[in-house]
Amino acid sequence: MDSAELLKLATEAADRSYSPYSKFRVGAALLCDDGTVVCAANVENRSYGLTICAERSAMVSAIAQGKTRFKALAISCPDADYPVSPCGACRQFISEFVEQSFPIRFGGSDGRVVDSTMGELLPHDALHELSDK
Ligand code: THU
Repeated sequence: MDSAELLKLATEAADRSYSPYSKFRVGAALLCDDGTVVCAANVENRSYGLTICAERSAMVSAIAQGKTRFKALAISCPDADYPVSPCGACRQFISEFVEQSFPIRFGGSDGRVVDSTMGELLPHDALHELSDK
């Protein structure tokens, strides 16, 4: 499973978004270390603050399935004409389960893709700052 395939799965997952309020579909595809991929999408609520982002949906779903080790994450926002990076809350949430070198790819509808890492998106986080990983 390469990063292009993973992003394609994230784009497909965005079709399963429940986002009647923002109309901003987001999909995530999480490659687990057993080679399986857990896909998810953002799920909104009429009480807006209860919304769950696609990235957190994917992490929670994977962990609930007993998958706790991950190789890569791709995020796709077909309703944005630029690559959309994970929000701050998701960065914190994801960092609980991955190392700083963990690859995170994100893209929008225009074909541009950003390849980043957990460490770039959340440097100096409390969990990893004393580690050499
Ligand atoms: N959203 C995500 O799912 N992931 C992101 O990285 C950005 C924001 C969702 C939350 C909300 O349902 C919609 O996009 C608009 O913010």
